[in-house]
Amino acid sequence: MRIGIPAEISAGEKRVATVPEVVEKLIKLGFQVAVQSGAGDQANCDDDSYRAAGAEIIGGAAELWAGSDIVFKVRAPSKEEVALMREGSTLVSFIWPAQNPELMQQLAAKKVTVLAIDALPRMLSRAQKMDALTSQAGVAGYRAVIEAANAFGRFFNGQITAAGKVPPAKVFIAGAGVAGLAAIGTAAGLGAIVRANDTRAEVADQVKSLGGEFVKVDYEEEGGGGGGYAKVMSEGFQQAQREMYAKQAKEVDIIITTALIPGKPAPRLITAEMVKSMKAGSVIVDMAAEQGGNCELTEPGKAVVKHGVTIVGYTDLNSRLAKQSSTLYGTNLFRLAEELCKNKDGVIDVNMEDDAIRGLTVIKDGAITWPAPAPKLPAAAAKPAAKPAPAPAAKGHGSTGAPASAGTIVALFSIAALLFLLIGAYAPAEFLGHFTVFVLACFVGYMVVWNVTPALHTPLMSVTNAISSIIALGALVQIAPPTLFGLDRPDDWIRGLAVVAIALTAVNMFGGFAVTKRMLSMFRK
Ligand code: NAI
Repeated sequence: MRIGIPAEISAGEKRVATVPEVVEKLIKLGFQVAVQSGAGDQANCDDDSYRAAGAEIIGGAAELWAGSDIVFKVRAPSKEEVALMREGSTLVSFIWPAQNPELMQQLAAKKVTVLAIDALPRMLSRAQKMDALTSQAGVAGYRAVIEAANAFGRFFNGQITAAGKVPPAKVFIAGAGVAGLAAIGTAAGLGAIVRANDTRAEVADQVKSLGGEFVKVDYEEEGGGGGGYAKVMSEGFQQAQREMYAKQAKEVDIIITTALIPGKPAPRLITAEMVKSMKAGSVIVDMAAEQGGNCELTEPGKAVVKHGVTIVGYTDLNSRLAKQSSTLYGTNLFRLAEELCKNKDGVIDVNMEDDAIRGLTVIKDGAITWPAPAPKLPAAAAKPAAKPAPAPAAKGHGSTGAPASAGTIVALFSIAALLFLLIGAYAPAEFLGHFTVFVLACFVGYMVVWNVTPALHTPLMSVTNAISSIIALGALVQIAPPTLFGLDRPDDWIRGLAVVAIALTAVNMFGGFAVTKRMLSMFRK
């Protein structure tokens, strides 16, 4: 099948849906790739680079749309672009079906299949490689800090120089979702003192891990609205939050706002009064400008100076890093192509039984299939219903059952004690020693694993895998020359088994440490 990449026609859009590096990979999947001439010019990808990667360059938009079985795009298509589509073809693009009902009708009338990359069920871990919302928000968060640094008249980091002492800039980030966390990491990396707030308390640890300080609102209310997103907060919370934000506005030099609530206008967090209270030369970057703005004085698409404060309301942060955004977006779409073309034969199969693909598919052969039913999540990801605090022994991973009653625990301990007595009375002394060590090891293992939060089970398993592999030592003893440990030489078949055991545990041991190292390096700068 032929994948077509048209030039983006939205004003100011500099991104392109794929880059030459990705074209090569798409061709390896069996696809042909056609790129409209000049489509990548503004993202530093010229026609020659696409040609060198194996793509065909097509002169005009009409020819490209008409000749493509699949079209990869960034922005939702215009009415004119929809008119160019071929019946039965497939479109992969940002669509925002809730905001664009008219476009959905036009696309359905064309009898095409549409995969809206913004409708991806992000909570499925398998979908993360295709998550363009995350990849684009990460780039925008980074760029927001760069825009702030550009408009700010001082250094971000503190310095002591012969010409005097320079204090570090103080940056406050409102909203610590994907974009907010990227902004925290970037500002902290530049040496600023970074503070952040979010209505979802669970992000506090993420803020800290990126070098920021989480500033709490002095009001108890759960901010999660489901699926990792926020909800509209109560008036009481909003009042307490405004007081905290007003205090921060007086203290900090830069505010970057990223707060959004799906399907609702952006919450107004920074009032005109707060802007007035900021020091002259301060900067606000309002990343929610397109959704109505988190700051009362933001003008979408512009940078304006009001009350001595520069308020940046750019809505094209991704286009300001067009090459980076396009590369990440192109990679997300390539990962999607891999999912759609499992046989690597250049033919896609839009499998509606697959949760991730079902979520993305908003129109199938002209029939509107949006919104998709909620995907089935693994039990561990489901939010536990409110219930009384479990008994300490039932904490963590094993806490799904009802807490055992005191009577049951006494009965269990009595049976265990009786068993021990019987074993002690009849088993040989040597066995008893080993058995005691075995029981204690089980107990310690249970306590270690069950008290670790389920989110950390993967790293924990990789480390314990590695450590448990010290059983290799036992196997080494078995294959050792008889004189080495003063032991009798074991049978050949035991030695053979020991060699196999060593090979397998070596994989376990080195694999465990390698996985742990990789995971830890994800948290290092
Ligand atoms: P978003 O762009 O919708 O919102 C940005 C942030 O603004 C959110 O963190 C939200 O809590 C915050 N916010 C909303 N109202 C606020 C207010 N009044 N005051 C302060 N903060 C406010 O969200 P985004 O960045 O697209 O993703 C949010 C979350 O979604 C992530 O942090 C993550 O938990 C979840 N997610 C999960 C993924 C996965 O499971 N694979 C992938 C991507 C995101």
